[in-house]
Parts: sequence; structure tokens; C-alpha cells
Amino acid sequence: MEKTSSNTFFITTPIYYVNDKPHIGSALTTVTADFLARFYRLDGKKVFFAVGTDEHGSKIAQAAALAGKTPEDFVKILSLNFKQNWQNLNISFDDFIRTEEDRHKKAVILFLSKLKDSEYIYKGSYRGFYCNGCESFYEKTDLDENGNCKIHRQPVKLIEEENWFFALSRFSDILKEKIASNQIYIFPENRKNEILSFLNQGLKDVSISRQSVFWGIPLPFDQNQITYVWIDALINYISIIGFGQNEEMFYQFWPANLHLLGKDIARFHCIIWPALLLAVGLKPPQALFVHSFFTVEGKKMSKSLSNIISPSELIDKFGVDGTRYLLLKSLPRENDSDIQMKKLEDTYNADLKFGLGNLFSRVLTVALKHNIKNINPSKEDFPDLQKQVIQNINNYFEAIKTIDTEKAISAILHNITLVDILFDREKPWSLKIDEPKLKNIINFSIENLRLLSILIFPLMPETSFKIRKVLGLDTFEKLPTGALEKRLSWGYEKMTITSEIKHLFE
Ligand code: MSP
Repeated sequence: MEKTSSNTFFITTPIYYVNDKPHIGSALTTVTADFLARFYRLDGKKVFFAVGTDEHGSKIAQAAALAGKTPEDFVKILSLNFKQNWQNLNISFDDFIRTEEDRHKKAVILFLSKLKDSEYIYKGSYRGFYCNGCESFYEKTDLDENGNCKIHRQPVKLIEEENWFFALSRFSDILKEKIASNQIYIFPENRKNEILSFLNQGLKDVSISRQSVFWGIPLPFDQNQITYVWIDALINYISIIGFGQNEEMFYQFWPANLHLLGKDIARFHCIIWPALLLAVGLKPPQALFVHSFFTVEGKKMSKSLSNIISPSELIDKFGVDGTRYLLLKSLPRENDSDIQMKKLEDTYNADLKFGLGNLFSRVLTVALKHNIKNINPSKEDFPDLQKQVIQNINNYFEAIKTIDTEKAISAILHNITLVDILFDREKPWSLKIDEPKLKNIINFSIENLRLLSILIFPLMPETSFKIRKVLGLDTFEKLPTGALEKRLSWGYEKMTITSEIKHLFE
């Protein structure tokens, strides 16, 4: 998944349609990307984490008209709403791209001019069914039994117009080879297999422009046609790093290390996007992680069912870190997963309030009760349990490689449990305990807390800082390459308990 020759890591989320409000689906992808961006920064990589909004196309133009606004004003306000939501979730994005920005339009124009110079562009006439919700063309066989779009369950529109086409069909073999050999690494495996079996059916050429749409970027070689919104949108992944405008930056970060996306948009990302890049002589992305969907209390999340959960609803209940944790623990990988409020509350209480939160106050209370403030962990502090801590840290690292956030969290929870096991076994509150043993117990537990503060940082940065502050530790300002491994070694640094303990979770 990583570039071997360089220390950079370029990671992206999809750019979301501005007309929809942020919900736990879009928050999920964004928090997962943030988790990875923070992890790789901690590991000393030069990370570029890109997010943004998709602002063109007929769907947005219609929504603007319905709101009685010009599309320009409409997208500006709604884009800010996304940015604000991501800031509220403590998303550490390096840049936020809007497809209405000039730098993006310039990149699209340059990309399309290059495409026109290639042998893969031709003019033809298009006849097909268009779903406004998906902004996607369909054949009759793709529709449901009522002739509606299978995703939106809404009528599609028969469109017949002159369009420019991209000869996608000529890329079937090369894509198959690159995907099968993991040069373009699509995961989890079930998504890779789906894409491969789709490729096995042979690809059809795709239209890259629309005649009847006015809101978008005109083709540089045919001003009567507007760039198809999906082509426009995909190019965000290179416009944000300066394609055609800042070559140095562009080649520092391209090809992307990782695109994150949901299963509904896998074909655009895993097939059309790499083919477009190959057509203009650019490298395809290195890896694409395709997650599944959240359902809510057993039902598809949708406006008509009024069951859309917004990130702010969760933040009100569980705080920012709690929300991030719960989304990451529920990340649907191979299959959809169901979000149930009661389950989220139970998990919050078990894992955070009574898990990590209790551990924190339990350990510090014992240390302070015995007036132990200086902590100097050593290899002698319960080596049997230390071994298990290290094993769990290794499991955490393995889980991150495959973006198995649930597994990464389970490794964290195991380390929390080890302190409980130790306390129940040794009973440090008992008066009969001898002093060296007491020191061992405190050392082990606080060192474990220090390690946990590192492991939880990508998930819950504020909680990590709260723990580190009490232990007199820094907040990861200076981290050269490889520092993470060192920091995670047992007894890497001494600690002094500095301040009063507060509750980590309410
Ligand atoms: N604008 C396009 C993406 C262009 S990227 C070059 C788009 N936008 S979207 O606003 O519809 O957002 C789609 C993202 O949200 C996808 O990754 C999609 O999978 C995700 N989700 C939408 N509903 C979801 C769930 N119920 N659960 C999880 N993710 C979901 O498509």
C-alpha cells in the first residue's frame, strides 16, 4: 500500500456532493482517512490528506434552483458547511478542494486537453438512461423492475445527445493485469473480485461530456459541451496537489498512496479513473480501499425514511473523540453494518467510559494514594504481561495495514484489559502489598497508559493529549521517521505525574 522509495503519503476521501448534508456515511470515510493520516504522520511520514466538495452537474444545478439561489452562491455556502463539519470532527486535512475553484478548473482543462491529444477521444452520439441522483448513465438492464435506478429507486431520464467519448473499452486488459497483480491494489478482497469480474465482461466506452447541462466546466476543445461531472470530480485528486500548476508538489505526491471510497462509487474510482490517468501518461493510484455501507436500525439511510444521522447528532451524545471512536469501530469493510443508537451507547460506556476512562482514573488514583509521582518503567515490571502488550501493539500495526479499524481497536482494548487483570491479581489497594511490588504495578500500568496514549492518538487525538498531559508527556511535536517504533518500546521515557486527574469521558 505504501510507496517504497519515498517518505510521502497522499491520502484522499471522495469529494462529497454539496447538496447533501454531511452524514455518518461521509463522516465515516473522512474519519477513517483522518485516522490513517494521523497514524502515518506519527510514523514520521510527510502526509498530504485531501478532502473537498463536488459542486458541478445537473443535480447541484437543480438543487440550487429549488433553493432559489444561483449555483455559485449555493455551492459556496454548502461547501463551507462540509468544511465546518470536518473541523468539528477534528479532521486534520491538509487541503480542501472545491471543484468551483480556479485551480481545479485549470487542472481539468489541462487534463482534458491532454486527453484530446491522446488517441482515446472521439465524438459520438449517446442514448441511455441517466440517473440524476447518481449522476450516472445506465443501460436498461441496470435498472430495477420498475425501470428505476437501483440505488435511488427514482425514475431515470432517457437522454439522446452528441457527446465526446473516452475509449474505456481499450483499457480492459491492462486494468485487469494491474488489478489482478495488485499494482493497483483494491481491497478488501471481495471488492477487488467484483471489479475483476466486471472487467471480465469487457468495458464499454464512456461519455465524458454533456450537452444539455449548463453548470460545469466547458470542454477546452468544444465549448458547447460541459465536462461530465464525474470526470470533473475525479480530477480533484490531482488538481489539489497542483497538477499543471505546481509540478514539484505534484510529482512529490502523485501517484496517490490511497483513495478511500464507498462501494457505490467503486467503478468510477477503480476503472474509469485509472484508465483516464493511463490515457494521459500518468500513473494510476497505488491503492483503493472500498468500504461498505452503514444502515440505520436495519434500514437504508435515506431522506425519505428521515433516518439520516448527522455527525453533530453523535457529537452531542458522545463528544468528538467518542464519535470518531464509534465510527471507526463500526467501519463496514466487506459487508454493510448496522448502526443502532442503543448499541453505540453500550459500546461508548463499555469501551470508553468504563474501559479506558476507568483504567485511567483507577491507575492514577492508586499511584497518587501511595504518593508515587515519578514513573520509571523497566523490563522487570511483569514481563509476562509486557509480552502480551507488545503482541497487541504488533496486532494493531497489522490491522492498520489492512485498514481493519475494528481489529486495531480490539488490540487497544486488550491492552486495557491487561491492567484490569493485573489489578485483580495483585490487588494494589491492599495494605499488605510490599513497596517494590507496588512500584512494579504502578510502573506497568502507567507505562501501558503511555503506550495507549500513542495507540489511541489517531482515533481520539484529544483524549490522547489529556492522558499525555497528566503523565507529563509531549504532544508529538517532533517526530522524525521511525520515531513511532522507538516511542513504542517499553520504558522509552520516564514520566512524572503532573496534574490532577480529570474524567476522560463524561
Ligand atoms: N461526489 C461523488 C464522489 C466524487 S469523488 C471523485 C459522490 N458524492 S456523495 O456525496 O454521494 O458521497 C459519496 C460517499 O459517501 C461515498 O463514498 C459513499 O459511499 C458514502 N456514503 C453514502 N452513503 C453511505 C452510507 N450509508 N454508508 C457509508 N457510506 C456512504 O458520490
